[in-house]
Amino acid sequence: MIRRAAEITFQFDGDEFTAFDGETISAALLRSGQKNIRSAPTGAPRGMFCGMGVCQECVVEVDGKKTEACRKKVKAGLIVRKATYV
Ligand code: FES
Repeated sequence: MIRRAAEITFQFDGDEFTAFDGETISAALLRSGQKNIRSAPTGAPRGMFCGMGVCQECVVEVDGKKTEACRKKVKAGLIVRKATYV
């Protein structure tokens, strides 16, 4: 039997999302259908690609610092913003 961790909530660009405790930011956003998590300098939408911290396509801002959403675990109440350029 697989047991899920507790469900928590966090914010992404002002909207509330749910995640399972211990899940990465990108996993929680993708599961909710949010694929656009960063903007390229041209304004083009960007999102998760490699899923292992290599490509930088998933960079978001957490507490004003840029971080890879595919490597950062989500916490209850976390405030995440779309990064505009990396
Ligand atoms: S998806 Fe490539 S670094 Fe996160």
